[in-house]
Amino acid sequence: MAKIFYFTGTGNCYSVANRLGEKLGAELVAITDYLSHPYIVEDAVIGIVTPVYSMDLPQVVAEFLEKVQLQETRYIFCVATMGALAGRTLYHVKEILHKRKLILSAGFTVPLPDNSIIFPSGEKRMQMLLAAEEETVNNIGELLKEHEENSVKMKDFFLWKIVAAVGMWSLKSVLNVKHKKINKDKCNGCGICAKICPAGCITMEKGHPVFGEGCLTCFGCAQWCPNEAINLGWLHPTGKTKYVHPGVDVQDISGRHMLDCKK
Ligand SMILES: Cc1cc2nc3c(=O)[nH]c(=O)nc-3n(C[C@H](O)[C@H](O)[C@H](O)COP(=O)(O)O)c2cc1C
Ligand code: SF4
Ligand code: SF4
Repeated sequence: MAKIFYFTGTGNCYSVANRLGEKLGAELVAITDYLSHPYIVEDAVIGIVTPVYSMDLPQVVAEFLEKVQLQETRYIFCVATMGALAGRTLYHVKEILHKRKLILSAGFTVPLPDNSIIFPSGEKRMQMLLAAEEETVNNIGELLKEHEENSVKMKDFFLWKIVAAVGMWSLKSVLNVKHKKINKDKCNGCGICAKICPAGCITMEKGHPVFGEGCLTCFGCAQWCPNEAINLGWLHPTGKTKYVHPGVDVQDISGRHMLDCKK
């Protein structure tokens, strides 16, 4: 038995997790769902599919790795999706598991279009990355079936830690991405942002979204909004910076809310 735990804002990680799930016969579980209702995981094979945030793991994925209760697990792998550079992401997974006396057996990266607004992939690269996804993930799936071991290759660099910390600080404190602003003239009250928010921190009130605390900086609300009505601090996805995975629907990633989000 196998389970793949994923975290996603704009669908890249869901798409990769879904492809791997089909290939390995694994059940998909949203990391935010697990954190809302933790339980003992008894599967022999565990996968984690995560985006890269500022050269590192998203905080919520790190929290999951610290808390997930594993029993009988013999093989753990991680796949990171990113626009260009994964930095210390895979090493960080290995480090957290090592502290818990668990072993990350294998790690892989899958480059996919960048959803971060700041570094858009560009139309040509976007098409190229999406076209390569199936083959890349299939190849990873084949290696996973053979229980590939490659984690000795994962190293940390002091510089990555600094770049990761400064990058995340800039996103939160300089670009102020946790502060959302709604353009009520553009918002039609469709509720998509509230459905897809993995933090569950968006509620619809009087036909418009209201943002509570607990944002996981996935950029999903602004990217999925069909009317470009959401500003993430100083960032506003529009035109070339707008991106969601074309093979993923709102329904695929709806309702994976954390339950402890403060309103
Ligand atoms: C807050 C934030 C920070 C990001 N930082 C990086 C980064 O350091 N390196 C990179 O290559 N991509 C970065 N990205 C891009 C995402 O890792 C990439 O688009 C990922 O595939 C998104 O996955 P998702 O669609 O499942 O949310 C960042 C995205 C966000 C939202
Ligand atoms: S997704 Fe956009 S248009 Fe729909 S409710 Fe949210 S802000 Fe309004
Ligand atoms: S509020 Fe935060 S966690 Fe929720 S969808 Fe928007 S960026 Fe993601």
